[in-house]
Amino acid sequence: MKIEEFKVETWINKYENSCTFDFTNTCVGVLSVAELAKLSENPGKVVEDILDLKLGYGRVPGTERLRRNIAGLYNNAMDFNIVVTHGAIGANSLAMISLLEKDDEVITFLPIYQQHYSIPESVGAKVKKIYLREENNWQIDFDELKSVISNKTKMIFLNNPNNPTGKLFDEKTLEALSQIARKYGTYILCDEVYRGLNHIGKPFTKSIFDIYERGISTGSMSKTFSLPGLRLGWIVAPADIVEKINIQRNYHVICIGRINDYLASIALENKDKIVSRNNRICRENIEMFDSWLSAEPHLSYIKPHAGTTVFVKYDMKIPSEILCQKLQQDTGIMILPGSTMEYENFLRIGYTNEKESVKPALTEFSQWLSTNFY
Ligand SMILES: Cc1ncc(COP(=O)(O)O)c(C=O)c1O
Repeated sequence: MKIEEFKVETWINKYENSCTFDFTNTCVGVLSVAELAKLSENPGKVVEDILDLKLGYGRVPGTERLRRNIAGLYNNAMDFNIVVTHGAIGANSLAMISLLEKDDEVITFLPIYQQHYSIPESVGAKVKKIYLREENNWQIDFDELKSVISNKTKMIFLNNPNNPTGKLFDEKTLEALSQIARKYGTYILCDEVYRGLNHIGKPFTKSIFDIYERGISTGSMSKTFSLPGLRLGWIVAPADIVEKINIQRNYHVICIGRINDYLASIALENKDKIVSRNNRICRENIEMFDSWLSAEPHLSYIKPHAGTTVFVKYDMKIPSEILCQKLQQDTGIMILPGSTMEYENFLRIGYTNEKESVKPALTEFSQWLSTNFY
């Protein structure tokens, strides 16, 4: 199977070892096992349980406890709607390879995680890309969608909340999208790995699974729950779709690690504590970032209130890859160039590292900008 290089992952892999400050981070306050155990009612028991755990294969579909906890993140999910996977990255690819075939058509809203166009392309599907625009507040242009959707459109891809823009597509938007998709019998695969990170108001907004009868939600423990090292994710989908996905799953997953299954349940049973901490960190950090950016004459963005990243536009005449390479060479600061997400003159910045370290890194970035461009 031929596939395009995954540009974001390739960039991070190439530059992360030589960076002194990492603005490509998309997680919030990653938890240690001890910190996670302390969130539970009985931390000692968590440690004992882990020490006693026999490391055989786990139950193939994941434990009932884990599946119940995942179902609890949705309004209408039952056990039979859930497929447990290796991260959201595993969830996305499993859903795509299970449902897409050569010559299918799909529509992808960019900017988005590259899986959502390169995997469909690799299976021979025809990908129609819709580039969301900053001047349109990163909103979906439904007229544009109507001009490209047809009876051949098998699947629509959306990421909500969005990496990199931090855009949250609200319930009304998802309903409008579903209404159009319904006419053509099109699936909507919504990558909801940042769901729960709505910084103001209710943290968990409605999932596509609870809105649309052909809605497929993917999620994981990585972002909202601060546990990327568990490599544990899921697909929540209608039962007939789950059946198809499970046929592929047996070739790719077997089961997930037993320790990971157990620790994910501890986190999900204490989700309110983790999620409110994470949204507080995001709220505080975005305010700090916002006041930094408003003093930068050549940078602009739409301030988001969801997710963990911002997509910053700049007006200097330099390609984003060159800018990021030079910045890292001179200062050690690592930022992701917009070109890795098919948007030139943009930078993706993850703003959720500890405030105490973000502040001096932003100051250094400012100095570098003014020395080189102003
Ligand atoms: C939009 C999106 N989807 C999926 C993933 C993969 O997440 P996971 O760590 O759960 O595999 C990421 C990771 O950055 C992401 O940003």
